Amino acid sequence: MGLFITFEGSEGSGKSTQTRALYERLHAENYPVILVREPGGTRIGDMIRRIVLDLQHTEMDATTETFLFSAARAQLVNEVIRPYLAQGGIVICDRYADSTYAYQGYGLGRDLNELKTLTAIATGGLRPDVSVYLDISADAGLERKQRRKNGALPQGVEWNRLDAREVAYHRRVADGYRTLINEDHERWFVCDAAQSIDTIAAAIYQHMSPFVAHIQKLDASGR
Ligand code: TYD
Repeated sequence: MGLFITFEGSEGSGKSTQTRALYERLHAENYPVILVREPGGTRIGDMIRRIVLDLQHTEMDATTETFLFSAARAQLVNEVIRPYLAQGGIVICDRYADSTYAYQGYGLGRDLNELKTLTAIATGGLRPDVSVYLDISADAGLERKQRRKNGALPQGVEWNRLDAREVAYHRRVADGYRTLINEDHERWFVCDAAQSIDTIAAAIYQHMSPFVAHIQKLDASGR
């Protein structure tokens, strides 16, 4: 039943570039594959994204933030991810539930057991088959993203409300990811984000080979 791949990483880790690279390679090989991102990936989810990341929403309560991410996730899982997996396809998701554990859990100090319960409700228990973590220190990642903010941000890169949080928060997030990976290391593929784009892309592709082996490719008509 399909293959569910998620990507995680701190700000400025190059995650979006790598999700796209994997998507394009699998697509070129005629695999049925879609790429979505969180928060967003649906019409309703994109509206929630605008609310949750808006720089002006400085008064947003942590509980509100947590529910908004979960609401966007529920919509994405039910509208897009589950149906595509049910057809035997590959779903690549740029961020998923681990982001909630890392950012709202370790970053903001929300109770992890509560977050797990909320996530189970939002996703109906859908977990990734394999997750990629692009490993970069919080400081290096923020510096990369800040540098791009000061120049013109490339398309698709935004400086948002959560990027604007203090460095200590981003360090807690990065440490949180390490804890999550240690607790479930079989699911994770950790890449050093300081390597070149091509080197990382090749390593990720190679890691995915055994996972995609059971996915049936599309025939010439695209079915
Ligand atoms: P985005 O611009 O998509 O950042 P990135 O390129 O780093 O993925 O913004 C998404 C932000 O939302 C990012 O700071 C991480 C945060 N986030 C959470 O705090 N909790 C979540 O559950 C999710 C999905 C994202």
